[in-house]
Amino acid sequence: MTIIAALTRKGVIGRDNDMPWHISEESKQFKKLTLGGTLIMGRKTFESIDSRPLPRRKHIIVSRSMPDSDGIDVCRTLDEAVDKAREYGREIFCAGGAEIYRQFLPQAKRLYMSYVKQDFSGDTYFPHFDLNEWRVVKEEDQEAFVFVEYERKNPT
Ligand SMILES: NC(=O)c1ccc[n+]([C@@H]2O[C@H](COP(=O)([O-])OP(=O)(O)OC[C@H]3O[C@@H](n4cnc5c(N)ncnc54)[C@H](OP(=O)(O)O)[C@@H]3O)[C@@H](O)[C@H]2O)c1
Repeated sequence: MTIIAALTRKGVIGRDNDMPWHISEESKQFKKLTLGGTLIMGRKTFESIDSRPLPRRKHIIVSRSMPDSDGIDVCRTLDEAVDKAREYGREIFCAGGAEIYRQFLPQAKRLYMSYVKQDFSGDTYFPHFDLNEWRVVKEEDQEAFVFVEYERKNPT
């Protein structure tokens, strides 16, 4: 399970159930990394993309309230979402938002973090994580963001 997120240095990930920025290089990077994989996301994040699945990726929505829907997997618990994702046999990404990141963080083995350079304000934050538990395996400086890949030091 890989967590993928874009955040400011202060940890902002969202505002008014949307992303506070539109950075095309970052969107392209998200696409490149996740293409062919399975995205697990919360109901609010799914709504933030107008409830339309992104092309060429499986989507699993975690929600207690969203009705079942044709062509979309709606799971009622995190465990159910992970079981369903494993059935697809593709790389699994946790694509947010904050509630979902917080609950999946303890089981994530890898983080793909895009640190946006500009300081946007927002109302939704990436959960606190202890940098001592993670090693940086890649760092790439892009124009508008710095991409950092972390691996968990002691996976259980
Ligand atoms: N910058 C980024 O990389 C990034 C990525 C993703 C999202 N975002 C932003 O994050 C914000 C949304 O995040 P959010 O924290 O408000 O919402 P969220 O995590 O996307 O979704 C929360 C919803 O997920 C469902 N849920 C959560 N835990 C559950 C559980 N254990 N079992 C069953 N259902 C569960 C609930 O849906 P029900 O209420 O239907 O039960 C809950 O209301 C938006 O602003 C979005 O743009 C940013």
